[in-house]
Amino acid sequence: MSVDLYASILRPLAFRMDPERAHNVAMSLVQKGLIPGRSTPLEHEPVELFGVTFPNRLGLAAGLDKNAIALNQWHKFGFGFVEIGTITWHPQPGNEKPRMFRLPSDKALINRMGFNNDGAIAVAERLSRSSNRIPVGINLGKSKITPLEEAHEDYKQSYEVLQGFGDYFVVNVSSPNTPGLRSLQDADSLRRIFQTLREVNDKRPLFVKVAPDLEDEAIDDVLNVAVEAKLTGIIATNTTIRRDMLPGLAAPTSRHISNSLLGGGLTGTNGINRNLTANQQGGLSGAPLLQRSNEVLQRLKANAPEGLVLIGVGGVFSSEDYQSKRDNGADLVQLYTGWIYGGPALVPQLLQP
Ligand SMILES: Cc1cc2nc3c(=O)[nH]c(=O)nc-3n(C[C@H](O)[C@H](O)[C@H](O)COP(=O)(O)O)c2cc1C
Repeated sequence: MSVDLYASILRPLAFRMDPERAHNVAMSLVQKGLIPGRSTPLEHEPVELFGVTFPNRLGLAAGLDKNAIALNQWHKFGFGFVEIGTITWHPQPGNEKPRMFRLPSDKALINRMGFNNDGAIAVAERLSRSSNRIPVGINLGKSKITPLEEAHEDYKQSYEVLQGFGDYFVVNVSSPNTPGLRSLQDADSLRRIFQTLREVNDKRPLFVKVAPDLEDEAIDDVLNVAVEAKLTGIIATNTTIRRDMLPGLAAPTSRHISNSLLGGGLTGTNGINRNLTANQQGGLSGAPLLQRSNEVLQRLKANAPEGLVLIGVGGVFSSEDYQSKRDNGADLVQLYTGWIYGGPALVPQLLQP
């Protein structure tokens, strides 16, 4: 299937569905192997980093295959690696629906999923039975019911059961959808989490994933802790709670709201609904995030010691976007929203334009 075919036929059909329903249908098709793709991983300038061989540098970002249900499928679409999760110690349903929204005219999504996932034990069991052809990263988060002061224990429990199944591990402290989570990006909390994980296993490659909404000084603090704790690297960035990168966004008025209620839902297909949707609470991803996530990457690169691995993510839709991450210092690149808009043929096109 070409990118054009997806854009002209399948995407319009999928985009008529509620976003989360479309996501579930697509995941089920991928899991069952019903979307055709390659039989072998896409080798494009393969690279070895932290002892792991990547067939190419472009991976699937966390959040799409949260529960590792389609692990043996992702190489078919050309991905060079896949990050599963976010996984928490306790299984949890996530926030109330609706919690995923499209902004088609901005090539963006907003989500407040809230770490809906099967929990570390169930995912570990699934991983023990699955086969994968490309490297796998495992992204860990804090369970909603665990108090922030006990976050390190929560990450530790997940890490204990999952440590044998990943090529790298990510401490996610940057989702905007778990109350207080992002406060764990402060230096003391981070130190405590990594110290605890190191006690469990100090051999596995560890990353921290940061928010694009950190001030420059806070980015420097995370970098210092990463170096001090001998992390393998940093993933930049998660979604943003800012909206100022959406052009012409006005706060919704009561007229907009009543129009939308009469007009039937938040489809994001006209100006009124676009503004209402844009004001939904949650993390914004996709094209509007490219610039800010690249700025964070650039700052990290400027100050990082040689050898610290940087994974760039946010707003990749084209080969130029991919190259911009590489130029700003990313050793590896990931995407999520671009794949939703670009479809299953996107990755080979980005790598081999
Ligand atoms: C619906 C949705 C769910 C996501 N869930 C997670 C998650 O569970 N953990 C995580 O670290 N990032 C999550 N992300 C963030 C992505 O991994 C990525 O950092 C962000 O979307 C920016 O990349 P993009 O512009 O290519 O989408 C999610 C993103 C979306 C759109």
